[in-house]
Amino acid sequence: MTRILEGRRTLVTGAASGIGHAIAAAFVDAGAVVTVTDRNPAVTGIADEIGAKRSEVVDATSESEIDALVSGIVAADGGLDVLVCSHGILTQSPAATMSTGQWRETLDVDLTGVFMFNRAALGPMLRQRSGRIINIASQLAIKGGVSLAHYAAAKAGVIAMTKSIALETAAHGVLVNAIAPGPIDTPMVAGIDDQWKRDKRAELPLGRFGHPAEIAPTAVLLASDPGGNLYVGQVLGPNSGDVMP
Ligand SMILES: NC(=O)c1ccc[n+]([C@@H]2O[C@H](COP(=O)([O-])OP(=O)(O)OC[C@H]3O[C@@H](n4cnc5c(N)ncnc54)[C@H](O)[C@@H]3O)[C@@H](O)[C@H]2O)c1
Repeated sequence: MTRILEGRRTLVTGAASGIGHAIAAAFVDAGAVVTVTDRNPAVTGIADEIGAKRSEVVDATSESEIDALVSGIVAADGGLDVLVCSHGILTQSPAATMSTGQWRETLDVDLTGVFMFNRAALGPMLRQRSGRIINIASQLAIKGGVSLAHYAAAKAGVIAMTKSIALETAAHGVLVNAIAPGPIDTPMVAGIDDQWKRDKRAELPLGRFGHPAEIAPTAVLLASDPGGNLYVGQVLGPNSGDVMP
């Protein structure tokens, strides 16, 4: 990959696994100065493996940890150019029997956590009058999913939030967009039941799930200049053809 993100100070969440790991590696390859974060301490080894500048173990449900992480990056690096929010959890339950605790946990991590990272990044980005935010949503936000009411609702919230923040910030140089992947082979999907996976593959025009490395170039595009310059509040869909909005 050419170094189209040379020097871009970037924070990637959920970078200990799957899509976040692949995006962080692609950003390093493209020349970005990357901080990786996750609640899983394995993120430290990932940073060494891919050549990230630093790693921090942070829980996406902790406002104080998120704010301290972003302030620390800005103090050390002089600013923040790109935020990629890729952390997330997925559990399954029919809505009729889903506990309020299960609903709230998913909304806390998958929506409120993304909001808190976006808010923390917006301060420095608006001050420097430039920045890119890329939120990883899901195609299930658009089509819904059986036993996934909590997850689909959180991801729909991420898309609506992305568009709203994009409207607030585009004129100030901060471009905010989302990526809504289809099924991607990661540990998150490995936990879903086999019948769902068989049915899902059969539905897909491509007939297969994607790989994390097939999502990362979309994030690189959105962060890049001039490739990403005209994307504002968009939802890009590398999804094997499952959803054609
Ligand atoms: N895999 C798919 O098919 C798929 C499809 C569409 C969207 N997505 C979304 O892509 C993103 C990445 O998913 P993935 O498939 O790479 O999953 P993954 O499970 O491989 O990675 C998710 C990462 O998020 C981290 N995480 C979870 N809760 C956290 C918390 N409270 N604080 C900090 N980190 C936390 C995990 O430790 C993990 O490293 C998620 O937002 C997911 O919803 C995945």
